Amino acid sequence: MQKIALIAAMSENRVIGINNRLPWTLPKDWENFRRVTKGKAYLMGRMSYITEDALISSYRNVILTSKEDLVLSDQCERAGSLEEAFQLLENEKEYFILGGASVYEQTMDKGNYLYLTIVHATVEGDAYFPEINWEKWELVESVRYEADERHAYAFSLNEYIKKA
Ligand SMILES: NC(=O)c1ccc[n+]([C@@H]2O[C@H](COP(=O)([O-])OP(=O)(O)OC[C@H]3O[C@@H](n4cnc5c(N)ncnc54)[C@H](OP(=O)(O)O)[C@@H]3O)[C@@H](O)[C@H]2O)c1
Repeated sequence: MQKIALIAAMSENRVIGINNRLPWTLPKDWENFRRVTKGKAYLMGRMSYITEDALISSYRNVILTSKEDLVLSDQCERAGSLEEAFQLLENEKEYFILGGASVYEQTMDKGNYLYLTIVHATVEGDAYFPEINWEKWELVESVRYEADERHAYAFSLNEYIKKA
């Protein structure tokens, strides 16, 4: 079965962004992101693509946008709808959905893996991860890191698989 993984970091009040940026800098979370997604294709919305902290795959990126004239960098291709994006990615054994809020909302049902960093803080934001129906997901791994001089907040790297 194709592995379709959502990957996100959210605070305890489900915030994932503010002013089209991440509300935190957590180097160990980024290291984990790079390790988990290395060499795989990414799917993301236009706002996540244009943000200053955009994460771009060196292999392949599908950018969702209604703008037909959006100028894209190397290894990036445009999808004008979710259906088109899924079609473009149908031969990938595995790919990652990077958000943002609107894309997570539309793809929660499609994803069968969830890499979710829980940032142990309540922060201000304007972009949120969708409500999760926890009955559908099984936690298979959870590693907690405490706050330190490089990390303002403690956080947990959680991995879930969608139940059959
Ligand atoms: N913490 C995290 O893990 C994480 C991860 C990613 C992003 N974020 C944050 O999330 C926020 C951005 O989220 P967002 O919801 O505002 O933006 P987004 O989901 O990144 O992008 C939204 C845009 O994607 C396009 N789009 C979405 N669905 C589409 C569809 N079905 N068909 C065609 N185009 C579609 C549209 O572009 P057009 O307007 O061009 O049509 C839409 O305006 C930022 O704050 C960012 O930092 C956080």
